[in-house]
Amino acid sequence: MTTSEWKNYRVDIQDGVATVLVDVPGEPVNTLSRETGAEFGAVLDALEKDPAVKALVVASGKKDGFVAGAKIEMLRDVKDAAEAAELSRDAQAGFDRLEKFGKPVVAAVHGACLGGGLEWAMACHYRVVSNDKKTQLGLPEVQLGVIPGAGGTQRLPRLVGIATALDLVLAGKTVKPKKALAIGLVDESVPPALLLEVARARARALADGEKLRPAAPGVVDRLKKDPQATLQKMALEENFLGREVLFRQARKTLLEKTKGHYPAPLAALEAIQAGIEKGMEAGLATEARLFGDLAVSPVARELMGIFFATTALKKDNGTADPSVKGRKVESLGILGGGLMGSGIAYVTTNAGIPVRIREKDDAAVARAFAAVAGIYDGRVKKRSLDRLEKLARMRLLTAGTGWEGMERVDVLIEAVFEDLKLKQEMLRTFETLNPKGIFATNTSSIPVGEIAAASAHPETVLGMHYFSPVNKMPLLEVIVTPRTADEATATAVALGKKQGKTVIVVGDGPGFFTSRVLAPYMNEAVMLLLEGASVEDLDAALVGFGFPVGPMTLLDEVGIDVGAKVAKVLHGAFGERMSVPEAMGKVLESGRLGRKNGKGFYTYGDPKKKKAVDETVYDVLPGGRKRKRIDREEIAQRCVLQMVNESLLTLGEGILRSARDGDIGAVFGLGFPPFRGGPFRWIDAEGSARVLERMRRLEGRFGTRFRPAPLLVEHAATGKPFHG
Ligand code: NAI
Repeated sequence: MTTSEWKNYRVDIQDGVATVLVDVPGEPVNTLSRETGAEFGAVLDALEKDPAVKALVVASGKKDGFVAGAKIEMLRDVKDAAEAAELSRDAQAGFDRLEKFGKPVVAAVHGACLGGGLEWAMACHYRVVSNDKKTQLGLPEVQLGVIPGAGGTQRLPRLVGIATALDLVLAGKTVKPKKALAIGLVDESVPPALLLEVARARARALADGEKLRPAAPGVVDRLKKDPQATLQKMALEENFLGREVLFRQARKTLLEKTKGHYPAPLAALEAIQAGIEKGMEAGLATEARLFGDLAVSPVARELMGIFFATTALKKDNGTADPSVKGRKVESLGILGGGLMGSGIAYVTTNAGIPVRIREKDDAAVARAFAAVAGIYDGRVKKRSLDRLEKLARMRLLTAGTGWEGMERVDVLIEAVFEDLKLKQEMLRTFETLNPKGIFATNTSSIPVGEIAAASAHPETVLGMHYFSPVNKMPLLEVIVTPRTADEATATAVALGKKQGKTVIVVGDGPGFFTSRVLAPYMNEAVMLLLEGASVEDLDAALVGFGFPVGPMTLLDEVGIDVGAKVAKVLHGAFGERMSVPEAMGKVLESGRLGRKNGKGFYTYGDPKKKKAVDETVYDVLPGGRKRKRIDREEIAQRCVLQMVNESLLTLGEGILRSARDGDIGAVFGLGFPPFRGGPFRWIDAEGSARVLERMRRLEGRFGTRFRPAPLLVEHAATGKPFHG
């Protein structure tokens, strides 16, 4: 019998087993809502009463996904903590009922099984997964600033042990089928084609009273099998004192890692601990209460804001006209296979697109190959890729010193040295060979329009600004000039997404968006250094604000010479307010380039030792080695306000298309703290009138570089937020 009386479920009954397929209509993936929860309860009611049904299989009706999690719009729209806690209690009750259901229930999982999806699967009595790449399981809730709220903090440690559960939940990690099986999260892993068949067979066997899981082994057997793991588990998880140590240590590590900025992982820890120490019921109550508090917390609001922004960007073709389609990119050319070129070659071949690199000599060709292979090897070592897959992807890469092949590529990305003449020469040669091809420059500071000035087809020229290291950094900034055709923009945006990037499209101008807003932030840090601040205070202040590293460390990493070059370009473009302090020249003259030559604001001797400030750098700076204490709060505010004000200017000038893009660019490209949402979300949270007042005060002290952007004045006057 097949019934179609449900909106979100298809039920098929055969040989005593009811297969319930979750299939939320009109959506590409299944997400859980009040509606899917209530309806599942009704499905259970019906199947409970049906004497023909002896057992259930729960699976997905979508091709490649189980359940991606709770519907996030539902969380965003709750009005207060009490409502969110109630949402959690309802979901808990639903899965509780499933766990206690009188007939055996087997989960058959293929594709993403995340958050509420995994909580659902864990409440079933047996779990079979497909051993497919698309299958992944996890509780990523902390990444949105909340915790699993449907029993996840309780069932996971009971299934996989406390230490493993903490490892997964506190960082929101996901696992593949093999690992899921090894840690006991699932019972079986089978080829996708057999998934439903095996799940039904297990459901039937359970209904017949068969024991599918071997009885838990006794201590002696466990010790024989794996003495070290068993002893560790006994010492840490199976006695009260050991557990105390485990939880205390986890809390300490979390505080060090999150610096107190992210409350969700700590709350998850608290819920897990409550459940282990006081039992499931108390654990569930704690989970629901904390879930409620977190769902309406400012951090969750910002993290969800970022989630919605990236989701919207995924659907955005990068132009004002949503009907524009990009060209299909069947092959990509790259000029220059250095640091950036080889990284771009990796992300492209990894996306299954053939790449041709042109380098200047044979040695450079060999280095480019080795660099791409090196990134793949790292993945093979970490087991996120196997050797055959690596070889298949490397086969998509060819390289040489001539232009052959470039006449056929759909897009060419140039990543040669940062030199206008050289880039223009590359553009001209490419155009004569391939007049229709799209030419993208990866320049970090030269306005794209200046390069395009050499072009006979400026409508095919744009910028694709990647960040280093390309294989890790999530952002791509696509730069369009007034003459770039929409088709070229849409092509670059779609290519970037295929390469796994979050893509923002910005207008042309010195420094585009990211480099431009970073410059005054870095300059302010240098100004503070010249006023006498210490390198330690500067870095600690901005790490305290939530950046992953402080400005002095960043300058060392990027290269002090590179920073000085970009600063000079921007000073030339924007004058006085971006003037580069002269003392920076002295720092460079003292032979400091940063990490790359082992000499910067820090010393880079022994990699095992904690890096220390190189006190001799103060000898070329005003004030010498005797540094002044400048309040860290003031340091952070001054630097951040520079970045924020510059962001406002770029929005006002139309470099940015929207506040959303600026927030994403700053968070994903510059490390602006995600829990603060980005420069524009930060202004909204602080209040534009208050931000304006701080700017005015600083303008009084330091002059034009703190002159508030017109947009800030406007928003302060109307009180209108940047995000509705
Ligand atoms: P790199 O020095 O590592 O690579 C440049 C490569 O271009 C070298 O391998 C060189 O042999 C090759 N090359 C030079 N002239 C050539 C020619 N005529 N034909 C073919 N190949 C040629 O430099 P990197 O860091 O990869 O930078 C490349 C571009 O990317 C620059 O425009 C840079 O400003 C930009 N960029 C760099 C970032 C970074 O963090 N390093 C970030 C974003 C953009």
